[in-house]
Amino acid sequence: MRALFKDIKGLVGYYEKSPSFIAGDEMKQFPVMENAWLEVVGGKIIAAGPMSTCPKIEAGAPKSTVVKCTGRYIIPSWCDSHSHLVYANDRSGEFLDRLRGLSYEEIAAKGGGILNSARALQKMPEDELFDRTLDRLLAVVKLGVGALEIKSGYGLTLKAERKILRVIKRLKAVSPIPLKATFLGCHAVPSEFENSSDYTTHVIEDMLPLFKSDGLLDYVDAFCETGYFSIEDTERLMVAASALGIKSKIHVNQFNILGGVNACVNKNALSVDHLEVVSDDDIEALKASLKNDHPTFPVALPLCSHFLGLPYTPGRKLIDAGLPLTLATDQNPGTAPSGDMTEVVKLGSLKMGLEPLEAIAAATINGAAAMELSSEVGTISPGKRANFILTREMKGLEEIPYRMNEKVVEKVYVNGEVWIA
Ligand code: NIG
Ligand code: FE
Repeated sequence: MRALFKDIKGLVGYYEKSPSFIAGDEMKQFPVMENAWLEVVGGKIIAAGPMSTCPKIEAGAPKSTVVKCTGRYIIPSWCDSHSHLVYANDRSGEFLDRLRGLSYEEIAAKGGGILNSARALQKMPEDELFDRTLDRLLAVVKLGVGALEIKSGYGLTLKAERKILRVIKRLKAVSPIPLKATFLGCHAVPSEFENSSDYTTHVIEDMLPLFKSDGLLDYVDAFCETGYFSIEDTERLMVAASALGIKSKIHVNQFNILGGVNACVNKNALSVDHLEVVSDDDIEALKASLKNDHPTFPVALPLCSHFLGLPYTPGRKLIDAGLPLTLATDQNPGTAPSGDMTEVVKLGSLKMGLEPLEAIAAATINGAAAMELSSEVGTISPGKRANFILTREMKGLEEIPYRMNEKVVEKVYVNGEVWIA
């Protein structure tokens, strides 16, 4: 199947040969080819160029279509590098408690929060969990997500964590988009354990090697936070994972600045995620990581800030410091019950002061790099998957955040096939 997209108002993120990520001032320069064409064959991007060089497809040529994109942009599909897609039930009941004045921490202290999700997940049969998660996956694909990381973490026992990771493995086999599996072993301390250190030992000694040998994980994660896991627990997990050749993506600085960012950079983590609160020392540590083989990507999760009423990650400041800011959803039943990356991009501009191209780069090329999927997705480049979004007619990309509640994604293409938005 061949498709020619023509008269594209702006082809966003087009590189003949793309870098794996962009940082700092480069993010404003995420390329846009104006008045362009794009050719797709067999689910892959083949070529693109200005309309003055547009190839001809004769009317009625077999197995080919021409899509006129007048007034519309083509944008690489969103690359959501942080989600907790596998859970049993929502937590709308707790939300009512929040409206009545309880904080996230107070709900957790009553046995709600992650422990509540874990109780429900432990009871749910694997097939039902798979079906529910597949529905969520297909829903986000329709919203324009073209690559996704999925974490475990609502199991809190070896058996239940394995169930989640098996669900993710089964999803990988049927998913139209590439997926990465993260073993979030250290998410909360189950009541059977005395303390976070003992549970971390169980995760490291009993779960990690087993899940690795069963091919169930790509990354590890820990919730490094007061009342959850300490820097020392997190470091032990990162070291154990690294010895098995596994990189880390760590929840850090959601509520408190503990020094976890520096610890993660020192252990060469692939990303540090949340960062609702950030110190100047954290920024210096992230800058130092730019000298490593790969940087430690700062991943902001503005839906969580929005939903919990937390501060927004100082995204403007991180980009101005020269860093490769990344945006993701954090989709989960407790702190961000949404997988809508377009909303994330809007909040990037509305709440973090990002220019539209900076927010788009953070949600595409940098999201792909934070999942090590740059060779497949994240930009419009020959040889990559034909995963992209066709927008509504727009005068400029600033209409993405400007059109607050209006749909800007008109169609979604996955491996060259149209998925109606
Ligand atoms: O990323 N902060 C840790 N984990 C999730 C939320 C967990 C939950 O409340 O269910 C997050 O926000
Ligand atoms: Fe999260």
